This record gives sequence, C-alpha cells and structure tokens, in this order.
Amino acid sequence: MAIYFDEVTQQFHLQAGQTSYVIQVHKGAYLIHRYFGRRLLNPKIEQPLITVDRAFSPNPDPLDDTFSLDTVPLEYPVFGSSDFRLPAFEAELHDGSSIVDLRYKTYRIFSGKPKLDGLPATYVEHENEAQTLEIDLLDETLQLTVTLRYTAFLSHSIIARSVSVANCGQHDVKLKRVLSAVCDFPNGSYNILHLPGAHAREREVSVLPVGRMAQLLESRRGASSHQQNPFFALVSPNTTEDSGEIFAFSFVYSGNFLMGVDPDQYGMIRAMVGINPFGFAWQLKPGETFHAPEALLGYSQQGLGSMSRDFHRLFRTRLVRGTFRDQVRPVLINNWEATYFTFDQETLLDLGRSASKLGIELFVLDDGWFGHRDNDRSSLGDWKIDFRKLPEGLQSLEKGLRDQNLKFGIWVEPEMVSPDSDLYREHPDWCLHVGDRSRSLGRHQLVLDFSRSDVQEAILDQLTHLLQSAPIQYVKWDMNRHMTEVGSVAWPKDQQSEVGHRYILGLYHVLEELTKQFPSVLFESCSGGGGRFDPGMLYYMPQVWTSDNTDAIGRLFIQFGTSLLYPSISMGAHVSAVPNHQVGRITPIDTRGLVAMMGNLGYELDVRNLSSHDRDRVNEQVLFYKSIQRLVLFGDLYRLRHPNTQKDAAWMYVGVDQREAIATYVQILAQGNPPMDRLMLRGLDPIIQYEVSLIVHDLQYSIPENVLHVAAFGDELMNVGLVIPYLLGDFRACAWTLKAR
Ligand code: DGJ
Repeated sequence: MAIYFDEVTQQFHLQAGQTSYVIQVHKGAYLIHRYFGRRLLNPKIEQPLITVDRAFSPNPDPLDDTFSLDTVPLEYPVFGSSDFRLPAFEAELHDGSSIVDLRYKTYRIFSGKPKLDGLPATYVEHENEAQTLEIDLLDETLQLTVTLRYTAFLSHSIIARSVSVANCGQHDVKLKRVLSAVCDFPNGSYNILHLPGAHAREREVSVLPVGRMAQLLESRRGASSHQQNPFFALVSPNTTEDSGEIFAFSFVYSGNFLMGVDPDQYGMIRAMVGINPFGFAWQLKPGETFHAPEALLGYSQQGLGSMSRDFHRLFRTRLVRGTFRDQVRPVLINNWEATYFTFDQETLLDLGRSASKLGIELFVLDDGWFGHRDNDRSSLGDWKIDFRKLPEGLQSLEKGLRDQNLKFGIWVEPEMVSPDSDLYREHPDWCLHVGDRSRSLGRHQLVLDFSRSDVQEAILDQLTHLLQSAPIQYVKWDMNRHMTEVGSVAWPKDQQSEVGHRYILGLYHVLEELTKQFPSVLFESCSGGGGRFDPGMLYYMPQVWTSDNTDAIGRLFIQFGTSLLYPSISMGAHVSAVPNHQVGRITPIDTRGLVAMMGNLGYELDVRNLSSHDRDRVNEQVLFYKSIQRLVLFGDLYRLRHPNTQKDAAWMYVGVDQREAIATYVQILAQGNPPMDRLMLRGLDPIIQYEVSLIVHDLQYSIPENVLHVAAFGDELMNVGLVIPYLLGDFRACAWTLKAR
C-alpha cells in the first residue's frame, strides 16, 4: 500500500518510492504539512504537532493562543486568517471581500490515478502502479470546495499533486490564485537550483542559496519560456551528482507559471508551484469547477543523478504517450540550416539523395514551403503549398524522398499568423489583441487566439488536410514569439484575465485531437528551439527541439541543463555546419556527432557539400548511433563531468540490465602538458567484467592497444577509472563502448 490514514493521529502517510509525505488534520479543521523526505518506516509520526504562542501571529481559534496559521507548516494556505506568507489560493468574492476559510471536510483513497480534465498529466497503465488521495477542503459560507489530489507512485520517489475548485454556492467566485502545490519545509539550509536561460542559451544551471526573502522564478510570456524552465529544486549544500538531499518541483504546464520559495521569520521555507497569478483570474460560476495543472514533487537522497534518472523514467514511460513512447526515433536531416528559405524541389531531393547515402532515415522540410514565404515576414496561417517552390506538391516530393528510402516530415507553426496572410486578411480578429490598440509584432508575426474554439477548429482543419495530403510521418510544431496584448474578442470583459490560460487549454485541445487522429506521426515540439521544453508539451509530443543553438560546445551546457529533468529521448540534437551559424565556432565533426548523440540524432547542414573526410565520418556516426541508440534513449544517464568547469564534459548511458554502456568525453579547452586524467564511470555492475573499446579519431599519435581495448570489472572502472587519451586541440572528443564479457 502507498497511502495510509491513521484515525488516531489523523495523519495521511504517502509513500512513493524512497520518499514519505505526511499530512495531518489538526483540530479537525486545518491541514498541516508534517513531513516530506526520506521514506519513513512507521506509517505515522508519533510526536504531536507542537505549537507555541508567538507575538504578532494571530490565532484563528480563540481558545488556543498557541495556534496560528502563521507559524505552522501548511498544505494549502490561504491569506487573511492569520497566515501572512505567500498563499496557495486567493479569490475575490461577490461582496468585495477576499477572505476564504478552507477547512478539512473529508478524504478518499483509491488505487490508480485519475485523468486531469483537458490537462496533460502523468498517468498509470495499471491501477497498482500508484495510489491517490483526495482531500476536500470546504469554505462553509461560500460552499466552495477545494480538492487536493496526491498520487504516490510505487516505483518513483515522486508525488503528483493537482487541485480542483468547485463552486457549489450561489455566487460567482473570482479565482485569482490557484497554485497546484505548496510545501512548507520546517527549517534547514538549502540552495535553489533552477534553469534560467535565453534563446539559444536555454536551461543554464544556476544554484543560489535560499535567502531570507521570497525568491520566485516565473514566466509572464505566455509560454513556459527559454528564460525560466518550470522546474526548480531545493538542494542541500554541497549536493553533487551522487550525494545530497534534493526536493524537486516540476510543473506539467506550458504557459505562465510561478515557482519558488518564501522563507519566513522562523526559517521555514514555503516552496510553491502553480499557474502564475500575475495577469490571471478565473470567473467561477455556481456549478462550475476549475482544474489547476499537475505539479510533481520529487525526492532524492542520493544527489542530482538519481533525481534526474527518476524523472527521466517517469517522463519517458508515464508522461509521454503514443506510438513513439517506446520506439527508437529515425535519424533525420532537416533542411533549415542547409537552405533556410531558399529551396526548390530539386534542391530538396538532392539533399535527400546525399542524406540517404549516409544512412539518414527521415527528411524534414522546415520553414518556407507554404504561402509565399521567402522570408519570415509572411504566410503563417496559410498552410498551403507554395507551388513556386514545389510545383508538383508534397505528394511528389514525398514520393521522390521515399524512392530514396527516406521518410518525410514537415514543419508548421500553427499558433501564429502573419499580418501578410490570407488568414489574417479574412480574420483580423483571430489574433490575441485588445480593442484598437496596436498589436506588437514578434518575428513579424501575431499570435492566434487559441482561447477561441472557432480558431482551434479552423487550425485543426487546416492541419488535418495537410497531414492527409501526403504520407507525412513527422511534424515539427514551432512557436516563435511570446504573447503581448493578451485579450480576446471571444470573451466578455470580466473574463479577459482567463485568456492566457484558456489559450493553453485550447492548444492542449488541438494537440490532443491531432495526435489522436494521427497516432503514427512523430511530433517534435519547438519554440525557437527549447522555449517550451516542458512536461506539458511532452505529454503530446514525445520530443523537443532542444535549442536553436547547434554549436556542439554550446549544446554541452544546454543538454546538461536539460538533462537534469528531461530524458535524452525527449531531446532533438543535430550536427550542423562549421563555422557554426549561431556562435561561429569551429568544432570537429566527431565532436559534433558525439554531442548530438546525447539525444535524438539529426543532421542540419548541407550534406551535399561535405568533404570526403566528413562524409565518411557521418556515415560511421549514423551506423554507430544506431548501435547505441537504445542505450541512449532508454538507458540510465550518468553525468560524469559538468561542462560548467569550462574544461571538459563527460557522461554515460548504462543499459537497464547493466550489461552495456557508452561513455563520452569532450575536452573543451586543451591544456599544454596536461596531467594524466582518468574518468570515473558510474552505474555499472561492480562484479561484471566489461570489454571496453575506445573510439577516437584523427589523433596525431597512435594509441597503445592496452588503452584502445581494456577488459575490467565495473568496480575498477568506477573507482580506478579509465585513462582519458591525450586529445590534442580544443573541442576534441572520444567515447568508450562497454559490453559485459
Ligand atoms: C525556429 C526553429 O527553432 C528553427 O529550428 C527553425 O525551424 C525556424 N524556427 C524556422 O523558422
């Protein structure tokens, strides 16, 4: 069993993997947070909640001046009745007041995990994989019920939380803040680890101490964003890959979010996750229910590596859905950096011909195939072939590629409209806008109003036609600007603050319908690279274009940051030309290949113009990748050296049965006369003997046979390590394959 209720202590004890989470009903009314951490053996905490009288902390119970909501850890705090910290919930009521008093009412415990209406969420395939606890809190006066939902997964140290608010009263309630999870940590010293960034610099790892004031990370951009990922962790000081206690928070949502901490006067740290209350409100009419998205709370007592692997497994197997969840993905060629907007059918077929000879399996036609799009100033919204470029249409192009043994995929940006488009000329009110105010452009485009069902249906219609028009097996779904003038003519004035969230619900609806209709299409989500790399999008599209930055060294940082939470199988990673188009750096083809093999390998360069040296290498790369692909996509990731040192980076994948592994090392800057360096491997079986083969190219010296091929036990490889060959030159890389003897 994963969830217990103890009548005597009125405690709920949730056990998920290696973690316990304990909630207590206090005085029959207040939901107190008692514990989150290492799994407890005893299903209840014997010691009672101790409360003491504190100055300036008022008492909701006139008979107990030791009890204040201000000084106890709470499960779902509301402002206004003695707790002064940032709340989980806030509403504006019909009489102008905002006092809501949520008291414990009842609970339910059941097997499995219910679906969340219209929202992405983790799931179970069998009822016995998890148990769920629902706790109802009630405001008697308003007849407002808030249901807190907790799912404890048996084999993950992760608890999924979500919240529903049901208005069973007589009056409208304007919801202003409905966070999905709040968790009060009694005390202790933590750092915050989060993933800030920018376009082409996504998910940098930032660690800073929790101070004595609120530290919030959020998006106000209408998308989860490049700037902050909806993830953070509280980590004990000196946490490493292998050690340290971690409390991780991930939000299964793709729009504006708020996360972070609000430490109080006694060192208690309130962590929170939810839809960003900034610019948000929701008019909840009598009889209606509002659902807040899912938050995931993960726990690790063995450092970042084990936290990542737990989330990787959960996301890979119980968040991602559909045909491609358990399938290896085709190695692709994307024409974007090879041609940008300038191509015709012959160029594409030529590119395909060269790609196919290299073993590449899928051809992706990127931006520029529709309307009259010769640059980024037109045609978004008109998802019809540009016959100037492709006079014989998509079918013929697809046939030409199929003849070369290539599958065919296509790029779309369905949430956007160009002012220079038929769609916009016909429906100028279909974009987000506010009255006659000017409409800010981003990349010369406007955002379609996905809060409107007619817009959702029209776009679904266009996409359905497109996907039926030719055997399209892959779709790259892009989104290249953030939201401004967020308003909609479809909603009355008192519901304008719902538009941001309704947009995301509309987007989810379109994605649900489309992926249901085309289950054998592989969808890759993209937002100017990794601007919407979040669990919400992963629920619909199993892989994401990680970043527009395709430079191998830049990618080390981006992919390492991304890998903290997201599995390799969710990352799109391409080999591109040098000098790199984003940073101008020149890196060896082998390094570009090995770095792109940290995810779904693809190529994004003009393979027609490769030197014969590079062509041979790419050929080998594709073959090599196919031989390790299952390890990379379904194995366990161990980050061995973080590129943050600016010196080098190393990582490895170990197969689930520990009989196979692949380790990769990248030298960032070369040193003169470097010390002999050894790489300590991880995750191996200490008593298995492995055949280790070094793969390294273009060395200026020959490597002795006893370095090229080694036979050693896992124990030795993890503790004595492997000698890293001397790599002459910046940005050089090598790899080792390991096979049980
Ligand atoms: C941004 C994407 O991230 C790129 O890969 C490319 O598809 C362009 N958009 C096309 O406009």
